[in-house]
This record gives sequence, C-alpha cells and structure tokens, in this order.
Amino acid sequence: MGETIRQEARRLLAAMTRDEKIDLVHGVDNVWTRGVPRLGVRKLRMADASMGLRDDLVPATAFPAFIALAATWNRERAAAYGQAVAEEFRAADVDVLLGPGVNLYRTACCGRNFEYLGEDPYLASRMAVAYVRAAQAEGLSTTVKHFACNNSDWHRCCSNSVVDERTLREVYLQAFEAAVKDGGTRALMTSYNLLNGEYTACNRWLSHKVLREDWGFDGLVMSDWNGARDLGKAFRAGMDLDMPGVTQWNGYPKPLRELLDSGQLKPEDLDRSVFQILKWTLEIQKMQEDRSRPPRGRCADHAAVALQTAREGIVLLRNRDNLLPLEARPGMRLCVTGPAAYPTATSGGGAAEVKAVDPVSILGAVCALAPEATVLRTDRAEELARADAVIVCVGYDAEREREGLDRPWELHWHRDVNVIRHCQNHNPNTIVVIVAGGGVEMASWIDKTAAVLHAWYPGENGCQAIAEIIFGKVNPSGRLPITIPRSWADGAAAANYLPPGASHYNLPDYDWPTRAVFDVKYEEGVFVGHRHFDRAGRTPLFPFGFGLSYTTFEYSGLRVTKSAAGGADVAFRVRNTGARAGAEVAQVYVGDVQASVPRPVKELKGFARLVLEPGQEQEVTVALDRRAFAFFDVARQDWVVEPGEFRICVGASSQEMRLEGKLVV
Ligand code: BGC
Repeated sequence: MGETIRQEARRLLAAMTRDEKIDLVHGVDNVWTRGVPRLGVRKLRMADASMGLRDDLVPATAFPAFIALAATWNRERAAAYGQAVAEEFRAADVDVLLGPGVNLYRTACCGRNFEYLGEDPYLASRMAVAYVRAAQAEGLSTTVKHFACNNSDWHRCCSNSVVDERTLREVYLQAFEAAVKDGGTRALMTSYNLLNGEYTACNRWLSHKVLREDWGFDGLVMSDWNGARDLGKAFRAGMDLDMPGVTQWNGYPKPLRELLDSGQLKPEDLDRSVFQILKWTLEIQKMQEDRSRPPRGRCADHAAVALQTAREGIVLLRNRDNLLPLEARPGMRLCVTGPAAYPTATSGGGAAEVKAVDPVSILGAVCALAPEATVLRTDRAEELARADAVIVCVGYDAEREREGLDRPWELHWHRDVNVIRHCQNHNPNTIVVIVAGGGVEMASWIDKTAAVLHAWYPGENGCQAIAEIIFGKVNPSGRLPITIPRSWADGAAAANYLPPGASHYNLPDYDWPTRAVFDVKYEEGVFVGHRHFDRAGRTPLFPFGFGLSYTTFEYSGLRVTKSAAGGADVAFRVRNTGARAGAEVAQVYVGDVQASVPRPVKELKGFARLVLEPGQEQEVTVALDRRAFAFFDVARQDWVVEPGEFRICVGASSQEMRLEGKLVV
C-alpha cells in the first residue's frame, strides 16, 4: 500500500492552497486534525492515552497502570492490553491513540511514572513494542510519547534535561528507537521540556538527525499540547503537526503565514509536514477500510485482560514466615484499614486517567473473597489486637500523583506511616498494600511489617487480584520494573534530580510562560536505576527485577553459544521446586568485562516469563542480538562491540544471579 498512498499524498499536496496547508498542520478542538474538506481528506480524531480511553462520554475499561503492565514482564500481556485498549478507541471512532508513554523512571518522584514502563530501557522497549504492534493492528496510529527526557513533571515546561549523547542513545532513547524500528509506530509526540538547551519540538538533532536519519522513521511527529514553543523552529526541526492549536498561544494562522511571507520558513518545510499528515491520514483510513472485524467497546473480555494484568503485575515484596497466603476460614477476623482501603485509587491523574465505572476497592475485594471471615474496617486498638491479620492500605491517588506535578518520596506521615506503625504495634501480622506509581520510602517502617504488596494503580478490577493474592487464589508473579532504594539519597539521580533548593512539591505549571528555564543535569549518565547500585556496590531495599512467589524455582544447565550476526543464544533450565504452580521471570544480564569506556557492571538484555506446575522443568533459550554487547561510541556515531570477554548471568533479580557464564566475542 506504501507507494499508492505516497502517490495519492503527493497528488493531494499539489492540489492544496497555502491556506489549506497552514490549516492542516495545526490541530483543532483539542484532539482533531482539520483535514482538507475541499479535497475530501478526512479529519482524524485523537484521544488519550496508554491505559485506556479517556473520554467522559463513553464508558471505558480502566486498565491497571502502565507501570503495573511493565511489572508483568510479559510481552503477551502487553499485546493483549494494547489490543484491548485500541479496540475501545476504535469502537469510539478514535483514529489516533495518544500513547504509549515510554519515558524512563529516573526517580520515584516524577508525577507521571505510573503511566510509563519503569526504569530499564530494555524492559520498556520490549513491552512498548508488543503494545504498539497489537494496538496498531486494530486500525489506528499509536503516538509514542514524550520524546524525550520528560523524566520529571516538576515545572516540566521550563525544565532543561542536560544529558550526554551516549546516555541518550543507550538509555533514554532506547524505547523510542524500539517502538519506531520494531514496533512500527506511525507517530511520535514531543515533550514539554527542553533537551540540551532546546525545546524538544524544536530540537532538530532529535526529530531529524536521530529520528529520521538514524532510525529511518517515516511517520508523523506531533507536538505535545502547546509544546511547540517556536513554530518556525519546530517545523524546520522536523515537527509535522502543531497540537492543539489553542489560539492564545500560537495565534493560528497568523504566525505561520508571517514565517512563510518573511522566508523564515521555506515552502518546502511546510510541504514536508503536510505530506506527512496526508500520508498518515490515508494510511489510517486504509487500515480501517481493510478491517472486517467490528471493534468492541468496554466488555467482559477487556475486563478480563485488565484483571489478568493486575494478577501478573502486583509484586509481593515481603512475606515474613510465609504469613501469606492467608487461609480464609469461618471465625477468622481481619481488619482492613488505611486511606486506600476504600475507595482505592484506580489510577494516577492527568491525561492517562480513565474514570473507572464501578471500581472495586481493596476492602470490597477482601470481603468478597473471604465471606466466611469477619472483616472490619477499623484501626481501633482492641480490634486490631484480636484480629488474625491486619491489612493496611496506603499510598497515592489521582490528586497527589499526577501529570504536571511531582510527588514526594515519603508516604504521608499522618495518613499512612502513622497508621502502619499503629497497626504494627497492635498486631504482628500486619500486611501493607501500597497503591502508588513507583517506589516509596519504606525503610523506616518495613522491619516490623509482616508482608508488603506493591499493587501500583490496579485499575477498575485489580483489587480483586490483590485479594486473590492475599488468600492464595493467585500466586504472585510480578517483578519490580524499578529499583527501590533504602533512602532517597541512595538513588541514582538523588543529587541532581531537582534544581538546588527545590522541594518535591510543585504547583501545577500554569505559570510556565513566565518562569525561567532551569537545568536538570543527568550526571549519573548511563548509571541510572540498578546500574547505579551495581557500580556503587550497594544493596537497595528491593532490587530491580525482584518479586516473591509462593513457590520456589531452581535454575540449571546454562549454555551460551554464539549465534549468527554476532549475537548469542543463552539456554538454561528452570524448575518449580515448590508445591504450587507459579510463574518465574528469568532475567538475562550481560556485562563487558573490560571496556574502553565506563560501562555498567551488567545490563538487562533478555528475559523470559515461565509458568510452571509443581515439579515441572522447562528449557528456555533467550536470544541476544549484537546490540546486547554494544555501547554507543559518540565519536564514531555508531554502536560498537569491543572484542573480549563478556559475563552472561541469569538472575531472579538484578541482585540475585543464579547462573553465570562467559562469552568471548
Ligand atoms: C499531555 C499528553 C497528552 C496531551 C493531550 C498533554 O498535557 O502531556 O500526554 O496526550 O496533553 O491530552
């Protein structure tokens, strides 16, 4: 279809007037393109976001947070999730899905972490690719966002991310590159921040050199809403579509006319963007015409996808003396308390939030799954002391963890920490359930806690999965897509996340046009997340890739063999040695033993999620490509593999290597 569509786009371009072209490159009514009515070019409708359809008029499935999806480490789950979300968009006649968001998690405080895929470039890449492919197969365009380095929402519109090129290529741009090259996304959205001194919509190095020249991207680049700060620069840099065309800001259509009249923007620059929009529109139209299956809106199948994502994404962090699973029985007494017990936040806030229809709460789900028990919603000391176990539900919600703001690392002292301590003081069997988009401070209270579950934002029905895990109907299998440090200061980016003197609290950034730009220096370079802890030789509270199960797994038989095109096959066996069926996430890490540049001790380069019955053993082969051994050589502007020895480790987390081997490349 490629060449026919290109020809048609060229024909339409040639037939358009200058004013029609100016119209087409400016979005309208918040989420629409304008089309070219005279020539029969249709308008496209866009909608947020990665975690489901945010449209107040149509009831949509509220899926678990994207970070929960990352915690499943399950590409098939990402595909099922992407497909279900896209079906609901198509059922509502939406042509462009404004997601997925793939900015990496640099610290716990970024208000949008919940709508991204965690700290690791490889994990985020694989999950994003699966999502994009499945979503676009439903007949829409995804818009991978926010390109790039929008890793904080602290005054995001004035924040200049200062990042060296190697770090960009190896870490922050990886998931975008994968979504373009392997996922085939048809669109990208730039971000609100600056990158190395230039607003990303105006950054020619990013949108032209990297994206189009190096990665061969042939799709559409749109601005974030009001994010094209200098229209002429943005169009010259490679942006195609200015969203949303709020007249107060970009003054549509006057500034673009003036730029063209004065020669500051060449007609060819405008034509390139118009051509991209035409091609994009025709491609989307063709995909939709080719589809025979009618899309489904909110339905039982999508609810099942949401629930299964929560089941696989919730992470059991601690389980002293195997307190969990609890066995529900007549006469059992349970106290459920804490601010997140009822109602339980289903999502963080902002563009990614889908308002849940009939959301399940933790309290409701516990009552439903343990009808024979007495469940009290109380934190009265005498009731706590008499209970068999206490479930304390704490964390954030859509008001306090949201787009446009950052949130603190610590839980709320009075609301959350005091309640946890009070429960621990009266009952040793205290189970804490955390509802949040990332890590929180735990070291100050965790020692006296019997069990901890990280539930992320569970979506409309994920609290059922929390209760199923508590009562052993589901064996937990989520693994952290982030590192949780002991203290804020221990984290990789702690020293240079905010400008000196700033606190983690900020007001919504309505005042951004008047604020001065400030620098955020990514001084940790490629040593972000777990790479930092490896280099420092320090142990975090919970390492990247960590998560407990109700069963145990044994690894054996590592064989590493070279494969074609400079890669390797890593084969090994995993056996379920416990009494319950369960899923293990085997993680393959690669480390260059001696390198001419500082490289991480090891980097995640492959993983496999295995579902095993008790006693069952499975042989797995994880294929590593040549890139798995490479670093980005800035001088040569290329990926380079330095010959020599590489460590190949298979781990149950980034700190728990089960098998170790070598490969000489
Ligand atoms: C957000 C984007 C979103 C857009 C449209 C912006 O504020 O940053 O993620 O897609 O609004 O709603």
